[in-house]
Amino acid sequence: MPEDTLTITDNRTGKTYTAPIKDGAIRAMDLRPIKTSEDDFGLMSYDPAFMNTASCISRITFIDGDLGILRYRGYPIDQLAEKCSFLEVAYLILHGELPTAAQLSSFEAEVKQHSMVPEFIKRVLDAMSPEAHPMGMLATCLAALATYYPESRNVLDAGNRWLQTVRLIAKVPTLGAYAYRRKNELPYVGPDNDLTYAGNFMNMLWKMTEAKYQPHPDLEWALNVLFILHADHEQNCSANAMRSVSSSQADPYASAAAAVAALWGPLHGGANEEVLKMLDQIGSMENIPAFIEKVKKREVMLMGFGHRIYKNYDPRARIIKAAADKVFAVTGRNPKLEIAIELERIALSDDFFISRKLYPNVDFYSGIIYQALGFKPDIFTVLFAIPRMTGWLAQWRELITDKEQKIARPRQLFLGYGHRDVPASR
Ligand code: SDX
Repeated sequence: MPEDTLTITDNRTGKTYTAPIKDGAIRAMDLRPIKTSEDDFGLMSYDPAFMNTASCISRITFIDGDLGILRYRGYPIDQLAEKCSFLEVAYLILHGELPTAAQLSSFEAEVKQHSMVPEFIKRVLDAMSPEAHPMGMLATCLAALATYYPESRNVLDAGNRWLQTVRLIAKVPTLGAYAYRRKNELPYVGPDNDLTYAGNFMNMLWKMTEAKYQPHPDLEWALNVLFILHADHEQNCSANAMRSVSSSQADPYASAAAAVAALWGPLHGGANEEVLKMLDQIGSMENIPAFIEKVKKREVMLMGFGHRIYKNYDPRARIIKAAADKVFAVTGRNPKLEIAIELERIALSDDFFISRKLYPNVDFYSGIIYQALGFKPDIFTVLFAIPRMTGWLAQWRELITDKEQKIARPRQLFLGYGHRDVPASR
């Protein structure tokens, strides 16, 4: 018997089956021959929420949730955050290798060339109320771009895929900044190609009457770090949405709009907005113990805590916490930080959280920096979506070129009614 196999005995029939084990997994389709009779459909695995099911082979992002390790294409997240620009990391995520100086400058030039958005996008935004949620604005604009670039549907053409990849990475900060300006009822400011990816985003957000916007170097540094930390995170809910929608060969703008919708939810990227609302509700240090008691009674959740994969400190949360000091030196300290640090201290010493391995995730501290930078909470998830576009596109490109992938179509266990006839009286 080869060593890398699994032997399964079906106690219903007494029959034994052997399934190969490769890369730590068996193929779910190897369960199908396990039948009680010829007309039996065959055994399936039941895994709501994909708790133990790999849906793809990927070579982009590695997480060891027990050790709190995150790597893009093998490079540790802390090294990338310390040494690289966002576009260097985007290139790495997309191509698998860090760019040479020439490759980087050509990629930067491509992104700059595509950073403007068509004029009709302003009319789309103007049609929405300034009260509208900016994630709704972003999803709408992305879907609208699908109508503007109909050739993007040609997803099987590699050249076309690259063009749409660059366009989406280039345009998403512009769309995010336009959503911000719409909400604040300010005139839209277009891209400035003299600036970095993060610096130009700041320009489109905050330029007023000055002839040339100069980003504060420490704030630009912080935004660059935040962008790198959010760029990809393997098969999270929105990456899975991107893959699932684009498995039907939908165009990448429509698929990215779906990914934005997935990210918006409060259990995923929307948590950064919820963390700030939670800190506001707690209000002051003396209310923290009562709040923790409410969490333990399951009346409320400790937003920004817990993760499907990390059963240790999210390494991104650690880097964000450290970056906060540099931001606060410029903007002034956000008083919410004290509340967050005390919440973390209590949570990490309380058995409710220890036994469930609940640690701060990426969303716990990011909002505190965003708020110090002058953002209102409802735009926070847009700030997550902008860098995550790179990850979604890398996941899409991997999916499209993976010969094993097909349209995503889960099975179900049907437990509803069997056949029944509509009553004759109808
Ligand atoms: C992101 O997947 C990714 O990679 C996502 C992300 C990315 O970069 O793409 O990292 C970004 O989405 C971060 C997560 C942001 N969400 C939140 O901060 C919302 C609060 N967190 C939880 O809702 C929750 O922890 C999840 C959604 C993040 C993970 O959910 P799981 O894996 O389904 O775990 P679970 O809900 O089954 O929780 C396990 C236990 C439960 O207790 P028991 O029923 O076993 O007794 O832990 C408890 C939960 O009740 N629990 C919490 C809690 N999170 C989990 N209890 C209180 N507060 C919490 N935050």
